[in-house]
Amino acid sequence: MLKNKTIVLGVTGGIAVYKAADIVSRLKKLNANVEVVMTEGATEFVTPLTFQTLSNNVVHRKMFNEITNYDVEHISLAQKADLILIAPATANTIGKIANGIADNLLTTVVMASTAKVVFAPAMNTKMYQNPIVQSNIEKLKSLGYEFINPAKGKLACGDYGEGKMAEPVDIVDYVISSFKEKDLIGRKIVVTAGPTIEPLDPVRYMTNHSSGKMGYSIAKEALDRGAEVVLISGSTCLEPPKGVELVRVKTTEDMLNAVGKYFATCDVLIKSAAPVDYRPESVSSSKIKKNKDTDELTIKYVKNPDIAAHFGKFKKNQIMVGFAAETENLLQYAEAKLKEKNFDFIVANDVSKVGAGFNVDTNIISIIDNKGETTNYPIMDKAQVARIILDKVKKLLDYKG
Ligand SMILES: Cc1cc2nc3c(=O)[nH]c(=O)nc-3n(C[C@H](O)[C@H](O)[C@H](O)COP(=O)(O)O)c2cc1C
Repeated sequence: MLKNKTIVLGVTGGIAVYKAADIVSRLKKLNANVEVVMTEGATEFVTPLTFQTLSNNVVHRKMFNEITNYDVEHISLAQKADLILIAPATANTIGKIANGIADNLLTTVVMASTAKVVFAPAMNTKMYQNPIVQSNIEKLKSLGYEFINPAKGKLACGDYGEGKMAEPVDIVDYVISSFKEKDLIGRKIVVTAGPTIEPLDPVRYMTNHSSGKMGYSIAKEALDRGAEVVLISGSTCLEPPKGVELVRVKTTEDMLNAVGKYFATCDVLIKSAAPVDYRPESVSSSKIKKNKDTDELTIKYVKNPDIAAHFGKFKKNQIMVGFAAETENLLQYAEAKLKEKNFDFIVANDVSKVGAGFNVDTNIISIIDNKGETTNYPIMDKAQVARIILDKVKKLLDYKG
């Protein structure tokens, strides 16, 4: 995902240095070239060997090295960088950069570079809230430097409050999204995700195996590309992407109502949820007890509203994307569903295949459009599938104008 990208990671002297090792490892897994620049302060916490081993590159520390080749290190790093990430960023380094001080390799690289610079501050709450630190941050923001806000939490010093560095996974997500083209700015995209549940009594319900991973990946990709995203989610254990408007629902009827609230004003509806098709005709107000006299329990189910078909009837300019999760006759069923629900295209996946469907990080899809064209794709992770779906959505949006 970050192939051919060079990330210069500035590591400064805070206790969160150990988390920077995780950042390097995550960036490497995404095929980035990582050049670590450590301040002297940082080397008091962790040795350069850790970063050298994880990044497979020599760690840069000193500005006045004996010259071994005729690259001036701070200039060559500044030019090489596609992005400079400073994590953890101390109050000291933030202050220096905000005030034009370039007295070590890292601050000099930042001064000499035209690449995007992203800070992930980490410090004690009182330090973070200090008006000098805050005004340095504001100044840098006003000059186009970016910040990944620290979280609230228990700090290494024992205090509780703001100042805990954002988690490595979120920092790396930010880096990934920095490289994405913001081609969906101004578009409102509604994504449904996960399963719905239909209660039977106060302790039992009917649902399905949908994990919501596909829908959450689509919401994340849309958000990264600049769209305004409403994520209507059934019960999942997933962390929603930061920045989406999250609407949590339980039943299929709830999901229908939630989509109804946003449909008229959206540009795109992506229906990746797995709403339960039938619900118990009645919900018992008390727990259904085991009946000693019979081995059977009969429950009558009634049809739930068909969300896709409902909005397919009313759609005007909206683009509607559906999903077909099948275990047999995949393409025939998907094509019928595409027509029946008035989708612009449908993403079909055979959930019985290894590496596809529910609760896995990959999917194997075919896309059928409303002109009858089918494209088959190899196994991919869900983030890649999300990219393909949104590339197709983008083309349709451009075509519609
Ligand atoms: C144990 C210890 C922990 C520290 N943790 C932080 C921290 O989390 N954030 C911070 O801004 N400074 C922290 N400091 C202070 C910095 O190390 C100090 O300001 C140093 O000058 C930073 O230099 P640098 O920005 O060049 O790395 C800590 C110092 C010590 C001794």
